[in-house]
Amino acid sequence: MKSAKIEKAKLDWASLPFGYVATDYNVRYYFKEGKWSGGETVSDVNISLSMAAPSLHYGQQAFEGLKAFETADGRIVVFRADENALRLQRSCERIFIPPVPTEIFLEGVERAIAANLKFVPPHGTGASLYIRPLVIGTGAKVGLGPADEYLFLVFVTPVGPYYKGGFKPVKALVVEEFDRTAPLGVGDCKVGGNYAAGLRGSMYGHDRDYPIVLYLDPREKKYIDEFSTSNFIGIKENGYISPDSLTILPSITNKSLAVIAADMGMKVEKRKVDIAEVEGFDEVGAVGTAAVITPICSIKYRNREFTFGSPESAGPVASKLYDRLTKIQTGEYEDRHGWLREIRP
Ligand SMILES: Cc1ncc(COP(=O)(O)O)c(C=O)c1O
Repeated sequence: MKSAKIEKAKLDWASLPFGYVATDYNVRYYFKEGKWSGGETVSDVNISLSMAAPSLHYGQQAFEGLKAFETADGRIVVFRADENALRLQRSCERIFIPPVPTEIFLEGVERAIAANLKFVPPHGTGASLYIRPLVIGTGAKVGLGPADEYLFLVFVTPVGPYYKGGFKPVKALVVEEFDRTAPLGVGDCKVGGNYAAGLRGSMYGHDRDYPIVLYLDPREKKYIDEFSTSNFIGIKENGYISPDSLTILPSITNKSLAVIAADMGMKVEKRKVDIAEVEGFDEVGAVGTAAVITPICSIKYRNREFTFGSPESAGPVASKLYDRLTKIQTGEYEDRHGWLREIRP
């Protein structure tokens, strides 16, 4: 749909943080007696929940994060929502939540966007609409076991451009003191417990002046896993390299950038990456929905420091990949892989 006629909320779009701004509506579906209800669009930002809900005690919850954009020609599009639907289903299965069917996921996302069109940031501001689907175990239960009832909800919030004054490369610290996941755990799922477990490593990094921390595989502490909330990519000559691991979240941004890299004629490799190998990388990036690519200018590993490019600006390959992906998202470059889904009210 064309959104040009919709009066936008009065927000300073270009300076919005990656934070929570209340919007008008959210969409809710309930799972009871073996089936999902139809969706309800509600304005209440609070949920009423039994204090004995298993999501609160045992962390039986999973979530997603994706973005919608206004394109140059005034359409509202959401980026690869079908991939998020599949990933949420995988997370659900692993923690015994009835998977949210793709049709319900996509309908929830579309309804939440359509109900909050005035919060979709105008094209050209660099801002976007962040979408947070969430599924939680509800109902009262005290013994450990899957909940009997669930709530799937989708809310949206406008977020500003991640890089307000151009790319800002950051330095990363390899944290070996704590793990965010176990070798046979749920590190490849987007479940709340992983993030609670990861807070310790992130705070450890922050206290030492590292905005981002890098985890190694939890079994051998030898191979690169991922950053706290983003995947690792390395560029070496004409290669796009990302770690193959069962304990990392399969990033949809990484998957998309790998396709773009191949389109650009790069050699794409997904394989184990020994931490010692990064010394020879030309560029390193942290990739995910929030920032697309955060250039990493150095990695501190034990008593060594690996550096990549300039601390002032992103490398040429990361810049090209970033530019292409963000232009596809905003309709300024051909969507040749069918990644955009148009939202119709
Ligand atoms: C642990 C973790 N890894 C990677 C990512 C990046 O995934 P995506 O590109 O799908 O946002 C995220 C963010 O969702 C994350 O939380």
